[in-house]
Amino acid sequence: METIEKIKSNYNFTSKDARNLKHLAAIMEKYIDSFPVEFYKRIKGFEDADKFLKDEETIKKHQTAVKDWFSALFSGEYDNRYLMELEQVGAAHVKVNLSAHYVNASMHFVREFCWDILEREIENDKERYYFKGSVDKILDINLDVLTSSYIEEEMKHVFLSQKVESILVKFANRFSYGLNLILVIGLVAMGMMVVGLFIYDVTHILDGNLEKGLLSTLGSLLMLWVVIELVDTEVKHLKGAKFSIKVFVSVALVSIIRKILVTSLKTEEVQAQISLVVAVAVLGGVYWLISKVEK
Ligand code: HEM
Repeated sequence: METIEKIKSNYNFTSKDARNLKHLAAIMEKYIDSFPVEFYKRIKGFEDADKFLKDEETIKKHQTAVKDWFSALFSGEYDNRYLMELEQVGAAHVKVNLSAHYVNASMHFVREFCWDILEREIENDKERYYFKGSVDKILDINLDVLTSSYIEEEMKHVFLSQKVESILVKFANRFSYGLNLILVIGLVAMGMMVVGLFIYDVTHILDGNLEKGLLSTLGSLLMLWVVIELVDTEVKHLKGAKFSIKVFVSVALVSIIRKILVTSLKTEEVQAQISLVVAVAVLGGVYWLISKVEK
């Protein structure tokens, strides 16, 4: 949180500036009643002004508030209490969702209004330039505080969501890592079962059923190859590599090829075999397309 002393020092606002502004108070007093009128002529032209200044009561209240604010510009007292009051104004604008753009634009009007008065009231160019510098500084300090409220409000939102976000992201990361580990364990178990199936198929060959044994063994070897591919992809993924969709298609392809090998022994299942061959052709096409895109 900035202190008024720090803000004043950043704008090189000295006790001389405070004295200059106090000196201008008597001149500005003459225009105190016309200020809210002229100010309102300008801000009424803003596109959404009616949205914020919706009824007579709000307008009256705001006109009195801006009049007091204008007087305080030339009070010569710019302490922490002054800063707190400005922060309150900033917070009031943020609360009604007033665009910071309107605050900037209306401050531009205030600057023009003050310069006009100085032009009219102070004949000596050097003196006018000197006072103008102090008016500029206090208006810039005001604008700084009024617009800082918007930045603080924005940072508050970002900070809150960042905190929630980081907890959520951390949790989701750990959870997905845990699921991936379960997947690896599942795949290893699957690999062991396929090895069991391979041994079982080899026994067919030893039993003398050579054709069935060879084809089934070939099918289980294909499945083993797929499991190896899956474990390999998953391990690479855990190490940070991109997940390969191709491997899923290869799983489906190998499963169907194995089915074809098994059903090829039964001559009566021709129709089923044709549909399996079509499925292999489609999956083969998809596999080829993915390989091309991945390249
Ligand atoms: C230099 C520019 C402006 C200054 C110095 C200023 C000053 C003030 C002050 C002193 C208050 C009272 C804060 C409080 O309740 O403590 C206020 C509130 C408010 N201002 Fe401004 N204002 C400015 C620009 C605007 C503009 C351009 C609009 C609308 C187009 C606006 C709309 C409002 C509204 C809606 C409130 C709240 C009124 C309420 O809740 O009663 N202000 N402003």
